[in-house]
Amino acid sequence: MKILITGGCGYIGSHTAVELLNANYEVVIIDNFSNSKRDVLDKIKVITGKNFSFYEGDVCDKEILRQIFSENKIDGVIHFAGFKAVGESVSKPLMYYRNNLDSTLSLLEVMNEMNCKKLVFSSSATVYGDCHETRFVETIKKGTPSNPYGKTKTMIEDILEDLYHADPTWSITMLRYFNPVGSHSSGLIGDDPSGIPNNLMPYILRVAVGQLECLTIFGNDYDTPDGTCIRDYIHVVDLAQGHIKALEQLLNNEPKIRIYNLGSGQGVSVTEIVTTFEKVNNLKLNYKYGARRNGDLPAICADPTLALKELGWKTTKTLEDMCRDSYNFIIKNSQNKN
Ligand code: WQD
Repeated sequence: MKILITGGCGYIGSHTAVELLNANYEVVIIDNFSNSKRDVLDKIKVITGKNFSFYEGDVCDKEILRQIFSENKIDGVIHFAGFKAVGESVSKPLMYYRNNLDSTLSLLEVMNEMNCKKLVFSSSATVYGDCHETRFVETIKKGTPSNPYGKTKTMIEDILEDLYHADPTWSITMLRYFNPVGSHSSGLIGDDPSGIPNNLMPYILRVAVGQLECLTIFGNDYDTPDGTCIRDYIHVVDLAQGHIKALEQLLNNEPKIRIYNLGSGQGVSVTEIVTTFEKVNNLKLNYKYGARRNGDLPAICADPTLALKELGWKTTKTLEDMCRDSYNFIIKNSQNKN
């Protein structure tokens, strides 16, 4: 079976490429390196010992997509490509709507032309928006995301729902990620955002290696046990394996549209992440408590029951694994940077 991965050099895309190759799928990657690095291609080969096809290009470009489908018999597509920085999406909304929607529409149109109608879509817990739940089930009504990035995910989910209802020969699975962290145990691939990280773990890592001075914990006056926000962190390798399970289901069952939460179901506070990171890696982090960050919800956690029931998938890695693997990655890569 040959699978096209859009954005396959990115954080989650590259980890999924590794798991697909390990599961003996053939892989084709398209990436334009807008938020990833070319050397990830070699690292995927080193980790797996396997080769795969690569096309450098933009998923908005229907000509390169047509080239990929004419040169490869693609059995299914996993669509990761898209911009994903919440803060950047607020300051550059048009860039986010153009890129994330245009790339998805181009991909769907070419898949339709080529009669390849099996798609796994990289969605996000952000689509739950500001609904006043703390434990999210797939069937609850989507809320209103607080930023354009999250709104593009909601819009794409709506596009996919409408596409399926117009043409039920499509097989579509939408995976709603909670908070992906961690890295492959080799330390060769990981979350390596350019610039100042928005997300918690990449920021902690920069502080741990001295590239940033101090972590600010955004708010310790929330209505939570230790006053800091609670999130559902999931190891990126567990997340990648959730894609393999979703793909297997998609390829071996009747056409349908499905949605699954990919999370641990365990809520962890910011302070717990910090103290676990310090303990596991035997170091002291420089941090302080500061003001709340606009848009943050006090607690977000997955109900992962459906993914276990229908995909036979659940997380296996611990918070300690996430902290250890993340640090291993930055140590191996920040040395390369100096
Ligand atoms: C986690 C917690 C912060 C940085 C985002 C996206 C979501 C998804 C996951 C893609 C919050 C706190 C953070 C810092 C801090 N991405 N924090 N100091 O906001 O839960 O979700 O990433 O799908 O779409 O919204 O993740 O890592 O930014 O924040 O205290 O320097 O860490 O306040 O409570 P978030 P995050």
